[in-house]
Amino acid sequence: MIILVGYATVEGQSRSIAEKIAADIEAAGDRAMLYDIGLGGEYAIGHPEAAILCAPIHAARYPASFVAFVRQEASWLNSVPSAFVSVTLLIRSELEEEREEARHFPDGLLSETGWVPGLVHHAAGALRYSDYDFFKRWMMKRLAGQENAPTDVSRNHEFTDWEALAAFVEDFRIAAKA
Ligand SMILES: Cc1cc2nc3c(=O)[nH]c(=O)nc-3n(C[C@H](O)[C@H](O)[C@H](O)COP(=O)(O)O)c2cc1C
Repeated sequence: MIILVGYATVEGQSRSIAEKIAADIEAAGDRAMLYDIGLGGEYAIGHPEAAILCAPIHAARYPASFVAFVRQEASWLNSVPSAFVSVTLLIRSELEEEREEARHFPDGLLSETGWVPGLVHHAAGALRYSDYDFFKRWMMKRLAGQENAPTDVSRNHEFTDWEALAAFVEDFRIAAKA
């Protein structure tokens, strides 16, 4: 099976997640077509039979290029097995209401575009302090302090649960072939 792994990213964590999804798909014997939605270009080569899309939340929104892509491809996405990986920091919050907020981020995207993915996976992202400019680093450090997240800006902090992601990919492969 050929699976499109499309992603959007701002600082790179969603790309790392998409690369891991693609590696897991290939290791299991299927083919992954890794596609950077933000760069655009051709992705239909090889006719993917399924799709996993991955995008991060920044200031409560997914990247505009990602939303536009999903809107444009919704009818194709709805015609094949598909899944969405939503990347956030709130999903790792100690507070249930914040995790609940993170679980609802996809609602607006899906109702706005008409895409109905068979599976939605919530992955915790990263604080990549080294990639932020001065203002973003200051803002994210402040936010992290409020969220009980690491405020040591001298290094980056990754929260993605790679085992849970691998289990999700395996569940998707099984469901897509059923
Ligand atoms: C400027 C900025 C705003 C963010 N806003 C949110 C937010 O509203 N909710 C949330 O859960 N995470 C938020 N995050 C955390 C990102 O989702 C997280 O850093 C993720 O790993 C980014 O993915 P990317 O590296 O693929 O861009 C924000 C991060 C940044 C840098």
